[in-house]
Amino acid sequence: VTSDPDAVAWSAFVAEAERRLRDAGIEAAPIEARRIVEAASGHEGSEFHLGMREPATTRGVAHFDHLLERRLQGEPLQYVLGAWGFRTLDLFVDRRVLIPRPETESVVDLALAEIDRCREAGDRSLTVLDLGTGSGAIALSIAAERDGVEVWATDVSADALDVARSNLAGLGRKATRVRLAQGSWFDAVPGELRGAIDVIISNPPYVAATDELPDEVSQWEPDLALVSGESGYEALDQVVAASSSWLRDRGALVVELAPSQAAAVAANALRHGFRESEVRRDLTGRDRAVIARR
Ligand SMILES: C[S@@+](CC[C@H](N)C(=O)[O-])C[C@H]1O[C@@H](n2cnc3c(N)ncnc32)[C@H](O)[C@@H]1O
Repeated sequence: VTSDPDAVAWSAFVAEAERRLRDAGIEAAPIEARRIVEAASGHEGSEFHLGMREPATTRGVAHFDHLLERRLQGEPLQYVLGAWGFRTLDLFVDRRVLIPRPETESVVDLALAEIDRCREAGDRSLTVLDLGTGSGAIALSIAAERDGVEVWATDVSADALDVARSNLAGLGRKATRVRLAQGSWFDAVPGELRGAIDVIISNPPYVAATDELPDEVSQWEPDLALVSGESGYEALDQVVAASSSWLRDRGALVVELAPSQAAAVAANALRHGFRESEVRRDLTGRDRAVIARR
């Protein structure tokens, strides 16, 4: 091993990134600095600390500069890195899709519990539908975490479906159980699935046009993924009104929503063919989902 006395160790770049991110007002500067250096250096996870003693390479430093500059311009870390963890998956993400959120991870738990409940009713293969799949976070998690399930994933955005398709390619053998389809809500779903779906899950856009969002969200994430319309209920109302006729008896709809929308959506489900509905909280204790059963 030859040692170059001029070479700067990666640890100096962690310190530099942390300082510049903090100066830019980024709260999670230490974590973000680490993530940027991990991506630039290739020293990730358990190798990180040892790797930081290594000299940085010219190519690695160019990559570091590029990533840090993008972040300092206000681009969300997830897009800068081009990848983000969601449950068991490492998803490719860019500006064509919503950044998958931790609260959605807990909504997937609710859907998995409904899938398991449907499974108890018989030994057949189950059909699950994810409406507005974006990066594919929900649909691909279900395919990854449950066997014997066919998952349909839809989106009105062809761009979003391209991202979901890239993520599907990373799912290996389980990818054969996922179907992608383009169209507005149920228009994308083949007619023969009417009355044959066990669980419908959706994280639709649920922000009202007049709601204020942080700049990092409104300036970078797709409007189509965030804003539903004047009231914020437009997409939720469409999904709730149509779902019951696509579900089997005893099937369930699981929708993510804003805490302030939960009670109204749960009541609305009872007017649209559902036998029962309940509001469920996320890990921070906020009302985050409605489950409605046929
Ligand atoms: C809040 S994002 C959710 C993305 C992903 N399911 C997740 O949880 O990370 C909403 C998604 O719904 C899609 N969408 C918006 N309007 C739609 C429509 N009319 N029909 C189908 N999908 C729609 C958007 O393109 C976006 O991907």
